[in-house]
Amino acid sequence: VQLLGAAQAQGVELRIRSSFRSYEEQARTFQFWIDQLGEAQARRESAPPGNSEHQLGTTADVISRSVGWELIEPFGATTEGKWLAAHVAEYGFAISYPPNSEQTTGYVYEPWHVRYIGKACAAEAQASGLILVQFLERVGAAR
Ligand code: DAL
Ligand code: ZN
Repeated sequence: VQLLGAAQAQGVELRIRSSFRSYEEQARTFQFWIDQLGEAQARRESAPPGNSEHQLGTTADVISRSVGWELIEPFGATTEGKWLAAHVAEYGFAISYPPNSEQTTGYVYEPWHVRYIGKACAAEAQASGLILVQFLERVGAAR
């Protein structure tokens, strides 16, 4: 709420498309992507049930009108996507799947997917320059 409010106060309209997902919802989501894309591509974009950060309840997919409220990579280059990347840590979040990190994260770039780790931790993660999963491994908090 604070993140979206701060964005709005600066004329940047962000909304949440998806946040908590149960195991069953993630199973349906993952199967949907397998049906759409085939299993190999689906696994680059969607987590198998039991493995999604969305099941933690601390993750959200953030969208904007500029990309038709869709979860698509061009969001990262929009005013809204850039605002999100620049300010997300101030509100305790990190972008879990940054660009050019698939070998480390297992997932393609998702400029919309943010995970709450707390403000102090988010500031430390950002200062570390590490990809989130590497940072969490370093501090002994990997999922
Ligand atoms: N799209 C991300 C990886 C998930 O399914 O949790
Ligand atoms: Zn997501």
